[in-house]
Amino acid sequence: TDRYAVIGNPIAHSKSPAIHAAFAHQTEQDMDYGRILGDPDDFAGDVRAFVAAGGRGLNVTVPFKERAWELLDDLSDRARAARAVNTLMVSDGGILHGDNTDGIGLIRDLAENQGFSFPGRSVLLVGAGGAARGVLVPLLETGVAALTIANRTADKAHALADAMRAMGPVSGCGLNQLWDQRFDLIINATSSGLHGASPSLPSHCLAERGWVYDMYYADTPTPFCRWGQERGARRVLDGLGMLVEQAAESFLLWRGLRPDTVPVIKALREGQL
Ligand code: ATR
Repeated sequence: TDRYAVIGNPIAHSKSPAIHAAFAHQTEQDMDYGRILGDPDDFAGDVRAFVAAGGRGLNVTVPFKERAWELLDDLSDRARAARAVNTLMVSDGGILHGDNTDGIGLIRDLAENQGFSFPGRSVLLVGAGGAARGVLVPLLETGVAALTIANRTADKAHALADAMRAMGPVSGCGLNQLWDQRFDLIINATSSGLHGASPSLPSHCLAERGWVYDMYYADTPTPFCRWGQERGARRVLDGLGMLVEQAAESFLLWRGLRPDTVPVIKALREGQL
């Protein structure tokens, strides 16, 4: 039985063990997926202990994604650009590889599960922290016409856009500088929902029939999803699909198989997982 786990702090509420158990059952993989409460002062020690005990792979979550990026020498291009690692693989020689499946998880949920067509669209990404950085490169690779990063602290949005300039049509601004722009898709990558708030966006910036996507999810509609509903968004989505899709991409990296995510998303939505 190959051992995997998710490491974070806190970790008790993580859905990852249930998601990966469902994937393993579905694809008949002999694997065990646990959870590790990481030590904020010794993430490297926790990883070393897991590998020494024969662990094959880890998912890394809050607050360790950036620390995992610092720790690993061998990184995928997308993890390097994101400056964050959410998936760690242990090769047979005990070498650690870091990758990041958050961005591709977001794109797959929107494009495959929900049918959003990215090419030619104008997209607004709200937030300029780790969550936003993690999805930027995959978003630019979809063929969007324009990607605007808007952040409460405008300087951080400008810096992030400058760093990504070579990757595609990206610009940065403050939340209060979205004067006359309208977007086909607005993605919330801020942590404001954790404080029960929605980033304050001018109502006009959602195009008619525009979509709204909150990278976070909760059992009840998030403040940002409520904002979208109140403004008549064509589709209002939370991050549950992204959570399952990023897990499926990690599973693919580890096991070489892509699980069917649809039944797992449905089971989670219905509270059965
Ligand atoms: P994460 O790793 O979750 O992205 P982070 O790196 O601390 O966390 O970034 C948090 C992001 O949420 C930032 O973009 C932050 O805006 P600032 O850079 O201006 O601080 C944004 N954020 C948090 N609370 C917010 C709120 N109430 N309204 C708008 N933006 C908020």
